Amino acid sequence: MRILGFMGSPRTRGLCAQFTESALKGAASRGAEIKQFNLVKYTIKYCRGCYKCVYNNHELPIGRCPLKDDMATILREYLEADGYIMASPVYDFTVPAVMKAFIERRFPMFYKTKGARGIPDARVKQHFKKKASLIATGSAGDEFASIAEPCFEVMSGHFMIEEIDVVDQLYVGLIHNVDEERYKAKMDETYTMGVHLVEAINESRREA
Ligand SMILES: Cc1cc2nc3c(=O)[nH]c(=O)nc-3n(C[C@H](O)[C@H](O)[C@H](O)COP(=O)(O)O)c2cc1C
Repeated sequence: MRILGFMGSPRTRGLCAQFTESALKGAASRGAEIKQFNLVKYTIKYCRGCYKCVYNNHELPIGRCPLKDDMATILREYLEADGYIMASPVYDFTVPAVMKAFIERRFPMFYKTKGARGIPDARVKQHFKKKASLIATGSAGDEFASIAEPCFEVMSGHFMIEEIDVVDQLYVGLIHNVDEERYKAKMDETYTMGVHLVEAINESRREA
């Protein structure tokens, strides 16, 4: 089993990065192969909205995007993986541009016939055998956790269409005032999220 972590903070040594690493370690403790993508380190150009990836090559599992950068490789790894950790800070009530650029460039996972009504559909449906967990951090305290809802929505929208379940979501607030005790508690919590993610994937496969 392969679990990928997509980390959207521009700070690659910040808390989002550490929580992602911790969740992936939890997944690894249950036998998963893991890989963390600190997205800011990759070349991910902005989606130009040309729809070529969506309208053309419906027979392919991933549509062809005319932009040449790291996304084609990332999407191949994305499609082959079994589960995902998505982690993002709250920036101005939503995800930062780094994470948003990545999410928009997952558009080649979808297809649509030109002129058809409704939103595009997933090229490959996962029938809820793949799972994901979400982490968001912010300076607003835990009692204002609802501030992270737009982040969770943005990070999980594609999963809904691909039929990938979201298992857990965690908001860690007051991020600039994390003392040692709370840091340890949140590292433990994120580690457990990774364990839980692998267990949920195994469970759904046993049911099959
Ligand atoms: C441009 C910018 C916008 C931010 N907007 C918000 C916000 O709307 N709500 C909030 O709670 N925190 C906000 N923050 C605080 C970040 O969420 C916080 O710095 C981040 O969670 C730290 O995570 P990291 O250590 O992984 O970078 C903002 C920070 C920056 C730099």
